[in-house]
Amino acid sequence: MKVGITLIMLIVWTQLIFGQKEFVVEIRKTGATIQPEMYGIFFEDINFGADGGLYAELIKNRSFEFYHPFIGWTPFGDVKILNENPCFDRNPNYVRFHEQGWRSGTGLENEGFVGIGYKKNNTYNFSFFARVPDKKEKKFRIELIDSNANIIGKAYIQVKGANWEKYSCTIKASATESKGKIRLVLETPGIADLDHISLFPSETWKNRPNGLRKDLVEALYDLNPGVFRFPGGCIIEGNTLETRYQWKNTLGPVENRPTNESRWNYTFKHRFFPDYYQSYGLGFYEYFLLCEDLGAEPLPVVNCGLACQYESKECVPLENLTPYIQDALDLIEFANGSPSSQWGKVRAEMGHPQPFNLKKIAIGNEQWGEIYVERLVKFIDAIRKTYPKIEIVGGSGPVPDGDKFDYLWPKMTELKVDLVDEHYYRSPEWFLKNADRYDNYNRKGPKVFAGEYAAHDRNRNNNLRSALAEAAFMTGLERNADIVQLATYAPLLAHKDAWQWKPDMIWFDNLSVVRTPNYYVQMMYANNSGTNVLPITLNAKPICGQDSLYASAAIDTKTSEIILKIVNASDVIQNINIKLEGLKKGIKNNEIKLTTLHTNNPDEINTFEAPLTIVPAHTSIQATGNKFQLTMPGNAFYVFRLKINL
Ligand code: AHR
Repeated sequence: MKVGITLIMLIVWTQLIFGQKEFVVEIRKTGATIQPEMYGIFFEDINFGADGGLYAELIKNRSFEFYHPFIGWTPFGDVKILNENPCFDRNPNYVRFHEQGWRSGTGLENEGFVGIGYKKNNTYNFSFFARVPDKKEKKFRIELIDSNANIIGKAYIQVKGANWEKYSCTIKASATESKGKIRLVLETPGIADLDHISLFPSETWKNRPNGLRKDLVEALYDLNPGVFRFPGGCIIEGNTLETRYQWKNTLGPVENRPTNESRWNYTFKHRFFPDYYQSYGLGFYEYFLLCEDLGAEPLPVVNCGLACQYESKECVPLENLTPYIQDALDLIEFANGSPSSQWGKVRAEMGHPQPFNLKKIAIGNEQWGEIYVERLVKFIDAIRKTYPKIEIVGGSGPVPDGDKFDYLWPKMTELKVDLVDEHYYRSPEWFLKNADRYDNYNRKGPKVFAGEYAAHDRNRNNNLRSALAEAAFMTGLERNADIVQLATYAPLLAHKDAWQWKPDMIWFDNLSVVRTPNYYVQMMYANNSGTNVLPITLNAKPICGQDSLYASAAIDTKTSEIILKIVNASDVIQNINIKLEGLKKGIKNNEIKLTTLHTNNPDEINTFEAPLTIVPAHTSIQATGNKFQLTMPGNAFYVFRLKINL
């Protein structure tokens, strides 16, 4: 009884405080185009997102090229690192096994990326390059091991010949294990050399060799991304210029792509990863191919001649910038050039004679100051001269306001870049407050690319509160689609046991994937973007977060659908009326399809134990004439979709 009275009082109170809300959408006033690429993804190899994540290789340090070459490996018996007469000139280290009847035997174990994930009855493709200098045939035993030291898969390889050759076998796992390892044992006495020891699940995305983890790509695919920014982020800058991301090193046979130290190994002392390196197995060719698979427009970022300005003062003198500029030009040729061009030929030889249709390139990541501008100018001149149709993305620094930002934006306008990349990692409150950020932006300069953003709640969790703040902010991006043309959340991926940065859009361990509420917000936007903006008001006023309500409206002119997005970022139920002004022949079947994202507790997150705690739900409501109404709970994001009769 008491509960009932309290509930009625709460509803009355809510009505008094919040009253009726009327959204009016003017469906005949088709506004700015929403770019089909608008909602996309940004992938950076942070949080073991590439090696140990999207790139399906299960062995860490497969080429023994980490600074300490046995990182990831446990040798037993007589195993040495050598590099004379190597198999791969750019990854010269290899191991020599010398079996002389040790009690331990002679071999190696690899720990994977915080373990190796095995699935019962799945098969795994194992391979290595090997030679036996004494030309006497040697037998290797390969074992999949679970976390209790049990053998859950076994195979043998015979190695013969004094020249390097590739050997492979398939191993079936008899049990599921998320933190397994692999063991190699030389069974025959004598010497054998091994390099590039590799293990992939047989099942990868599209079952490509050197492939990508299927469940993770499926998560990206479901996002329906329009644009795909890659590969960084700070990764592009490097802690030093030597360790910057060099795209040319990521091409050709994977065995000979030189291993690079990760920018994210020692950045945070409280999340310290001396075993973080880049194999470049997921390189630029794989990236372009993935863009194609996902139907996303590529947006590569290149180094502009500066190492990460937070970490280093290293800066390429202007007179030495030519190779960096040439790298940018060559990248465009690699993507778009004919197979008879130098870099188009490399692409064709890797298996893709057709161009990748690159339209945009970003120069620099979070650079700032005059040193950035004077370098950027040189890139712009060269790119405009050779590729006048390629759009150029310039930066506005690491934060969305303040000195660096205020200095760079006018410079970008002066330099006539096509888009300016803005980054905002701010509190949910900031995101809500800034939902109208672009309402009064200068329309005459470059367009905006919201290149990295995420709402950082106090605990930095991927909770519903942060997701709703992003959804609310994105209503502002969408309403201003004439100036905001691209948006990509960051970072994209994080390994549960090996992350450096959070929040992140998708979490994974060695066997499973958790899609966060932030992921679902992105998915709901990208799958419901519409083609053009429609004007929308709340109680006859422009939308600016009145009573914690945020909204945008769009039309899909191809399907005659009206799409409406509303966020209720308050904790209370709100009564919403929606009116479609200008509707002539009604709504098809009077039916409004509704996708909702909501839980009562905004602190809630999706976990590995309960990954479906916050997921979109689908329902429908009925319209009367050109109106419909509903009661919207607090802490909710709704997408409405309806077809108008023509
Ligand atoms: O997304 C994580 C990092 O945040 C990016 O590498 C960098 O651009 C930004 O500081």
